[in-house]
Amino acid sequence: MDIKRESVLIMDFGGQYSQLIARRVRECNVYCELRSYKLKADEIKKAGYMGIIFSGGPNSTYEDSAPKCDPEIFRLGIPILGICYGAQLMAQALGGKVEKSETREYGKTEIECNPSSLVFHAGRSKTVTWMSHTDYIAKVPHGFKVTAISEGCPVVAMEDIKRKFFALQFHPEVNHTEQGMLYLRNYLYNACGCTAEWKMSSFVTDTIARLREMIGDKKVLCALSGGVDSSVAALLVHRAVGKQLTCIFVDHGLLRKDEGDEVEAVFRKQFDMNLIRVNAQERFLTRLQGVSDPETKRKIIGEEFIRVFEDEAKKLGRIEFLCQGTIYPDVVESGTGDAAVIKSHHNVGGLPEDVGFEGIIEPLRDLFKDEVRKAGIELGIPENLVWRQPFPGPGLAIRIMGEITEDKLEILKDADAILREEIKASGLLRDVDQYFAVLTGIKSVGVMGDGRTYDNTIALRAVTTSDFMTADWARLPYDVIERISNRIINEVRNVNRVVYDVTSKPPATIEWE
Ligand code: XMP
Repeated sequence: MDIKRESVLIMDFGGQYSQLIARRVRECNVYCELRSYKLKADEIKKAGYMGIIFSGGPNSTYEDSAPKCDPEIFRLGIPILGICYGAQLMAQALGGKVEKSETREYGKTEIECNPSSLVFHAGRSKTVTWMSHTDYIAKVPHGFKVTAISEGCPVVAMEDIKRKFFALQFHPEVNHTEQGMLYLRNYLYNACGCTAEWKMSSFVTDTIARLREMIGDKKVLCALSGGVDSSVAALLVHRAVGKQLTCIFVDHGLLRKDEGDEVEAVFRKQFDMNLIRVNAQERFLTRLQGVSDPETKRKIIGEEFIRVFEDEAKKLGRIEFLCQGTIYPDVVESGTGDAAVIKSHHNVGGLPEDVGFEGIIEPLRDLFKDEVRKAGIELGIPENLVWRQPFPGPGLAIRIMGEITEDKLEILKDADAILREEIKASGLLRDVDQYFAVLTGIKSVGVMGDGRTYDNTIALRAVTTSDFMTADWARLPYDVIERISNRIINEVRNVNRVVYDVTSKPPATIEWE
């Protein structure tokens, strides 16, 4: 059974927005794959892609080292859309001319376009787009017509309607391009003939059927963390084969307050899953004793996680499959590098390959995070779990500066719970992307009642971000910060000072360790 009958290829030339293009195409309900620009024409033909999008990229097309596509691609008869560098590449490859401009065109740029052309169809003739380029198309190739211009650029867009080749100098995938989604839809539906069949509801039903067929009467094991990815992956398998799935939930004791119980309640009680909760706090804390270096903490927690998991798995006897919550950004090929990009240190809970399974099941391998969330909603996972903020694998261990003790854990859990309660009560859940408390390891002098104190400092961290690679500190209303601060001082023992972190990333990171 093929879940994606219609698929579009995005050729990655190393542009910073390549993944964003892919997400936008998926938002148009068209399945797409992001692959290296090195992909050969015969492989593209074999895969049966209905369209090809060339991404942007940092190079100049006329440099010798610039990434080029296989020229045979232009003879496949597949509609092609070139974006920014991809537009210039198309122009140059087909006999046009690309030149360096005196000035860089950057940011919001008004363009004039021809709404009777295919890409701009039904759009406005004057509109704002997002540009970021120095080179420009100085001469269009034979067969092409200019379909948009701007003050600084003679060829903002061009098309050869006969061969179905389209080029845009601006970035339709960026929000600042007012009608960008319309242009993408025009290309996907009207040039490529896609029918918007990629929907999460059908993904869920089809995946369940496919898993049922693949697993048969065999058994599956899954490491459940309570995070979105592993929860959705496990639930898909559960829907397919029910109690043939066993989930192991390793509670390392470094979770947020009451979190372990919540995970258990949802998956064992609500979904009636075979769930084994391993309360391993003691094991983890013993191994972490005396350790204060952040990377060593991460390493120890990662290793111990695997050991605990293996110990439990052994007790269960023979299990044929291992289910993992790998998602598309974890596996996607990089644009100009040769190696596949794998999540770096963020993979605590990644399991070794040689644990003796017949096969690995990764039902979310093709999905972006927002699609995983939609699938979760389809499956009836509670909204608060589906929209849960990211939580690092090593948990609170990297939010307690220095050595971890049970005492410190308790202080941090209580302070963090107050922060979360107040953010929720103020209706700010969707306005901040990650928020937590940090036990800073700093002690300072305070005065409480009649006496002086010398106690802990809690830092509050709240950020807004779309990709967690860069982030800004959230402008939380002062009265919310005030309430959180008062409650922490009054309700959490051994804290006499609360500070708010006003650093963006970069230069700081989101976590403190
Ligand atoms: P930083 O602190 O690097 O965090 O700005 C970026 C995002 O990654 C999360 N993070 C981790 N997640 N294991 C994880 O699973 C880790 O070791 C880890 N360190 C940071 C962090 O919470 C933020 O969402």
